[in-house]
Amino acid sequence: MKVLLLNGSSRPEGCTCTALREAADVLEAGGAETELLFLGSGPVLDCTACRTCQKKPGKCVFDDDIVNRIIEKAREADAFLFGTPVYYAHPSGRILSVLDRVFFAGKDAFAHKPGAAIVSARRAGTTASVDVLNKYFTIAQMPVVSSSYWNVVHGNTPEEVRQDLEGLQTVRNLARNMLWLLRCIEAGEHAGIRPPQAESGARTSFVR
Ligand SMILES: Cc1cc2nc3c(=O)[nH]c(=O)nc-3n(C[C@H](O)[C@H](O)[C@H](O)COP(=O)(O)O)c2cc1C
Repeated sequence: MKVLLLNGSSRPEGCTCTALREAADVLEAGGAETELLFLGSGPVLDCTACRTCQKKPGKCVFDDDIVNRIIEKAREADAFLFGTPVYYAHPSGRILSVLDRVFFAGKDAFAHKPGAAIVSARRAGTTASVDVLNKYFTIAQMPVVSSSYWNVVHGNTPEEVRQDLEGLQTVRNLARNMLWLLRCIEAGEHAGIRPPQAESGARTSFVR
């Protein structure tokens, strides 16, 4: 069982990282392997809608940043935790730019693998940000893992996040639920249960 964690903050050791590490500790204690990827703090390219990846699926044409590395790692991973700080009541622009390109080029690498979003904020915009990240999971046939509360922590510094006892408890419960779901999927595979094959082909816009 391998869980890939993405830190969408510009701060490698900030609040988002603190929450993701709390989840990773529980996952590791439960027998999962974890890898925490920092998306970096430099500029990141948005999707240019060139659609090259639709002709050559599985790879973004811009190969000089973390996007294609995430797609490769996603193929090996069994589950995902996407972490972000709240910026103006939405996820960081960084994680959105990266995930738009990752999912446009490599959505198949995520199908039928559990995912969950963890959000850190000083005060507000948390659940809206969770909702935005959940949209990646729910267009990619991914089961969304839930917890005992919405997966948010509060703080401006790692120390403040560590004081958010309920937030960290929520994150730990989320990790336990993810472990449980991964074991259920594993047991299902041993019992011969395979993910369903999705229909494709129909592609209508609202006006037709
Ligand atoms: C540009 C910017 C915008 C922010 N907007 C919000 C916001 O809308 N709501 C909020 O509660 N906190 C906001 N914050 C605070 C961060 O969400 C908060 O400090 C978060 O825990 C930082 O996580 P990090 O240390 O992983 O970057 C903002 C911070 C920055 C830098």
